[in-house]
Amino acid sequence: MNPKNIRNFCIIAHIDHGKSTLADRLLEITGTIPTREMRSQFLDQLDLERERGITIKMAPVRMIYRLTTDNQQQTTAKNHESSVVSRQSSNSEYILNLIDTPGHSDFSYEVSRALAAVQGAILLVDATQGIQAQTLANLKNARSAGLTIIGAINKIDLFKDEDAERLELLRKHVSNVLDIPEALIFFVSGKTGKGVEELLRAVITYVPAPQNEEGISRALIFDSFYDNHKGVVASVRLLGGEIKKEDGIRLISTHTNSKVKEVGYFTPRLMSSSTLLGGEIGYIATGIKDPNKIKIGDTLIVARGLSEEKISHLALPGYKEPKPVVFVSFYSEEGEDFEILRTGLEKLKLNDSALSIEPDQNEVLGRGFKVGFLGRLHFEIVSERLRREFGANTLNTFPSVLYKVKTKKGLIEIVKPEDLPNEYEEIWEPMVRSEIIIPATHLKNLIPLQSVFRMHDFTTSTLASITPGFADEQIKVTTTMPLAELISDFDDRLKSATEGYASFSYEVIGYEASDVRKVDILIAGKPISGLSRFFPVATFEREARKAVLRLKDLLPKQQFVQALQAVSGGKIIAREDISALRKDVTGYLYGGDRTRKMKLWKKQSRGKKRLKERADVKISADIFKELLRR
Ligand code: GTP
Repeated sequence: MNPKNIRNFCIIAHIDHGKSTLADRLLEITGTIPTREMRSQFLDQLDLERERGITIKMAPVRMIYRLTTDNQQQTTAKNHESSVVSRQSSNSEYILNLIDTPGHSDFSYEVSRALAAVQGAILLVDATQGIQAQTLANLKNARSAGLTIIGAINKIDLFKDEDAERLELLRKHVSNVLDIPEALIFFVSGKTGKGVEELLRAVITYVPAPQNEEGISRALIFDSFYDNHKGVVASVRLLGGEIKKEDGIRLISTHTNSKVKEVGYFTPRLMSSSTLLGGEIGYIATGIKDPNKIKIGDTLIVARGLSEEKISHLALPGYKEPKPVVFVSFYSEEGEDFEILRTGLEKLKLNDSALSIEPDQNEVLGRGFKVGFLGRLHFEIVSERLRREFGANTLNTFPSVLYKVKTKKGLIEIVKPEDLPNEYEEIWEPMVRSEIIIPATHLKNLIPLQSVFRMHDFTTSTLASITPGFADEQIKVTTTMPLAELISDFDDRLKSATEGYASFSYEVIGYEASDVRKVDILIAGKPISGLSRFFPVATFEREARKAVLRLKDLLPKQQFVQALQAVSGGKIIAREDISALRKDVTGYLYGGDRTRKMKLWKKQSRGKKRLKERADVKISADIFKELLRR
């Protein structure tokens, strides 16, 4: 295959605008998946992705498309963009490497890696939603990666013929706001397939073939995973040369040498092949045993005949290291499950390089791990995957952020509120710059959220003003807020305040001095590590009372009465009791055998005393999650 006939591209969009569904149609048109095997959102391979209808992992797939004189003519009849297509030579076969990407802000690191592996991007806009926050954020990233952008207005099956004018206006608007020429914005329906083949041909026409470096066989590792049969596998974009089985390879940053066990493509299943060629996207079973030796963003080269000095100069810039911003400690529910938790986290990390994992210890919960995430959804997904894929039943602390605390002795960093020293001068917390896109009619509903989520620097601008006649005026709100607020229930509250019309994206921008207070929760007089939290000074008393009340509701009745208290700055600010569970241990005894009953009551009270000493009130992951809601 001529390298000039390779196209590497990805689909980017705001969450739910239809990326995976469009990818399904591309798989069908190219015959990559036989119709009988097709199921919706085919590239979402994880059960969790399919159930929740969200893409978590980027998914590469290689498709073959034959551009014939026939299908060019069809295009001429159907679409005014046909002039684009007629520039292609007829009857040529193309390799189309597509990477489907996630839409949620928490997974933007996944998207950024996909962007670095391709030359073009289809930017989808749901015609019923218009431009949303992640549309803008993804476009910005695709532009800075230097990609050719092709626009597509999706879900046109939901419009009638008489809506044609409205759709044209939307195309003008999208073109204006996103700065993409109108001729490069296509109307498609991922559901019915309408317009999808034209879009595919536009990819062939406009997206440049990847450059093919002469002489050197080197590849960018953009992802990695563990396969039970093949071991540690790297997903790569080959920049030049070729790589095949038995080639001696070097991973430059980790100085690891190995011998290739297998190479191949994603169909999307792994399909082995004799070689991987320059410009292509595929996989390399590295033969490496230790997952830590594979670094995402590293350069893999065939080292044969190259001096050490030359090798070191061949390292690609790679990726900016992802910075976890949300931290949660995980503990196994039963002591013996610790190994399951450890293995589960290690395997997930191999496929999710953004996770940071370090050992942790908790008085009540025992040994565990402090895990860093890119956001709250990322945490929820990983905790769910641990449970489903590895059977690890975990208990976890509240998601927290990294605070900086100024003390007399200097600056310290803490994640757990219980690590706050008694004496300190100031607490600093991470802040995010958030972009909210909202219909003008809903802007007023955003105002009450400002104080709840401690937003400041609230500025607004109109997205639609430059498109005459475009009625659905959209406002872009830019605001700064603490990351801790964003990871509470900001998403839910924003959606319900705006009937689901507002969307947001965010990036962490730095630290600001904060007015938070630490609140400890005590059960039976003992502070429960993992339950301490920071709250803003304006609300900490109210929040503490709420936390204690809610905990009382959520905790099952115990064997004995227990006090629940919230304490801040050495003062008790809230108290509730969990009532005792009465269990009739003598119920099965007939008549008045008093001494026998006394014996059983005594035994029961000895048992309760033992339990009380251990104060082992179980707090499940579900209770923690429930406590998180405001
Ligand atoms: P994330 O990966 O979570 O960001 O979602 P996505 O962009 O991959 O969207 P997905 O393909 O999962 O589609 C989201 C929803 O829109 C699903 O319910 C689809 O059935 C629906 N959908 C996608 N494309 C179309 C379309 O062309 N027409 C209609 N009517 N519905 C569509």
